[in-house]
Amino acid sequence: MVHADASAFADGLTKQEVYAQVLEQARALFDGQRNWVCNFANTASLLWHAYHSLPAPSSSVNWSGFYFLDPSNPQQLLLGPFHGQVACQTIAFGRGVCGAAAQTKQTQLVPDVEKFPGHIACDGASKSEIVVPIIKDGKVVAIIDIDCAEEKGFSEEDQSALEELAALLAESCDF
Ligand code: SME
Repeated sequence: MVHADASAFADGLTKQEVYAQVLEQARALFDGQRNWVCNFANTASLLWHAYHSLPAPSSSVNWSGFYFLDPSNPQQLLLGPFHGQVACQTIAFGRGVCGAAAQTKQTQLVPDVEKFPGHIACDGASKSEIVVPIIKDGKVVAIIDIDCAEEKGFSEEDQSALEELAALLAESCDF
């Protein structure tokens, strides 16, 4: 049975341990549930609480969530489930960090958003960002977007864990 404790992360865990818990809880939550809205919503919660259980800069994460392929425009992303402040509703492929990840199908690890050409500042507090494409049958179906209010908020360690999570979401959900 689903329990709120799934998003309780103990203090003092390493980032590696926290990501292992995110993946383990996500697998358990997706068992018997393939609806992407439902699964993305719980994953946004897991990610938010995971980062906030860690020391800075991870604790300065100010947005964790998803954009998905706009059903009315296959060259555009639409806002999906998230934790954090109200955000841009649509993002064209190729625009900003999210649009770059969607267009190139490559993770965008951005240590300083001010230096990223065309960065979309939904929230001026965001200083760094990581965006990971979720690819199903060779097509981008959604992206994971995490923003941090500190520069250099994310590393290769975040990239590899979030890419593992993206693969799990792609195989566990129907879009
Ligand atoms: N900064 C993103 C836009 C999405 S929000 O940060 C939630 C971008 O440049 O794609």
